[in-house]
Amino acid sequence: MSILEVKNIKYKYDKYNESSKYALNDVSFSIDESEFTALIGESGSGKSTLISHLNGLYRADSGDILFKGKSIYDKDFNLTNLRFKCGIVFQYPEYQLFSETVLEDVAFGAIKKGLSKDEAYKKSLEVLKMLGIDHLKDETPFNLSGGEKRKVAFAGVFVMDPDILIFDEPDAGLDPVSKDQFYKLLKMLNQKYKTTIIYITHNLDDVIEYANKVIVLKEGTVLKEGKPYEVLTDKEIMSKANLDMPYAVEIYYELLKLGRKIDISKLKFDELKETLIGLK
Ligand SMILES: Nc1ncnc2c1ncn2[C@@H]1O[C@H](COP(=O)(O)OP(=O)(O)O)[C@@H](O)[C@H]1O
Ligand SMILES: [Mg+2]
Repeated sequence: MSILEVKNIKYKYDKYNESSKYALNDVSFSIDESEFTALIGESGSGKSTLISHLNGLYRADSGDILFKGKSIYDKDFNLTNLRFKCGIVFQYPEYQLFSETVLEDVAFGAIKKGLSKDEAYKKSLEVLKMLGIDHLKDETPFNLSGGEKRKVAFAGVFVMDPDILIFDEPDAGLDPVSKDQFYKLLKMLNQKYKTTIIYITHNLDDVIEYANKVIVLKEGTVLKEGKPYEVLTDKEIMSKANLDMPYAVEIYYELLKLGRKIDISKLKFDELKETLIGLK
């Protein structure tokens, strides 16, 4: 069942200029509950503009967005509520930390959502534990490392228990270990709590590994959507979108050139490793 349906949305920043271009030009797609979707596309293709529409922060010039079957543009739709259910983590969220302590910062959104201070602190501590940073609870966010700050910012969104978690380039500038931990955490949230995830990334190797759906944007339109192996192996689409193929896909095509056709739907690291070891 779809949790989110985007129907023919158009959006331009410069609305008073007839000749200005649309940042989103007739975008449609739907997201099923507990899908793990990567939104990809070159810089300027409209990714950030698109996600800002998904919790009603930006309003489309035309088209519609349905959350659990209801138009978020209906006059009696509760947009405040949507912001809690559809949590967006913007790029470099660490710059948005402002409280005196980590625990206070993480609890802020939960208190705004209506939890008592005690409940919010208890829950925040659980989330900090889950992220492996509960020992930092009394620190001042400003004194933390970049990766730690980002985890604190993520915790502030996780604590609100959103049905959908949306991230704008969460992996940008993270060291490889923090990046892996972060993706594993997303995978856990996705599998254990059925949280629907949509994230923007340029890292297509990780898309193969973690996502189960990909949407490719180009100049404000959807070029293709589908399973990672269906989209990322499509040479025509990848070249149109100006994107490089992930390593696993390059290996697939190199083997094909040598006359070895491997299973295209098994391109995750462990799957590919098994296949390669098995080749004679
Ligand atoms: N605040 C803004 N004002 C005017 N134009 C913008 C603004 N933000 C983005 N744009 C334009 O909208 C288009 C899509 O941008 P964006 O959504 O940021 O793309 P992406 O996140 O894929 O890099 C680009 O042409 C960009 O220049
Ligand atoms: Mg962007």
